[in-house]
Amino acid sequence: MIYVFVKLLHLFSVLIYGGFLFTDNLILMRMKKTLSVEKYDEVRGYFAKFTRALVPKALVVAVITGLYLFYVNFGSIENGFSNFQILLSIKGFLGSWLGLRGVLQVFFGIQPFVFKGHLLPFVLVIIIVFLSQIMFSV
Ligand code: HEM
Repeated sequence: MIYVFVKLLHLFSVLIYGGFLFTDNLILMRMKKTLSVEKYDEVRGYFAKFTRALVPKALVVAVITGLYLFYVNFGSIENGFSNFQILLSIKGFLGSWLGLRGVLQVFFGIQPFVFKGHLLPFVLVIIIVFLSQIMFSV
């Protein structure tokens, strides 16, 4: 029962984070092409202001619940890592990197060293979701 609850929390938090990245990369970027620079800056400013209250917290929840799911699922290591363990480790690493990057940026004002925009997180989330779906069947 606890597992189901944690997994639901994981899913809802990644939904919020992924939805934010989707809107930012695919909707706002298209607005940039049609709105004037001033109007676009204003819209983006509102978007940043209102998403900041929720999205970074959702990312933290995604990482914490992910660590619990990782702990339960990883299993013991026999004759090296299994394919599942390798893919889960890559997924966990990428997810934790996103989490660390987001926390440092939003809560400590430290800008990411590479790829400062939101395109890299968006691509990583797509890869992570893909890994989450294939890792159990490889
Ligand atoms: C932004 C980062 C993350 C995203 C977008 C994400 C996304 C997802 C998705 C979509 C699932 C699939 C659930 C299903 O199909 O039932 C999942 C499951 C899982 N995630 Fe994450 N995740 C993230 C971070 C993490 C982290 C940091 C870890 C571990 C350190 C982690 C560990 C797991 C595990 C172990 C599962 C399998 C749970 C199960 O199916 O029972 N995730 N994740």
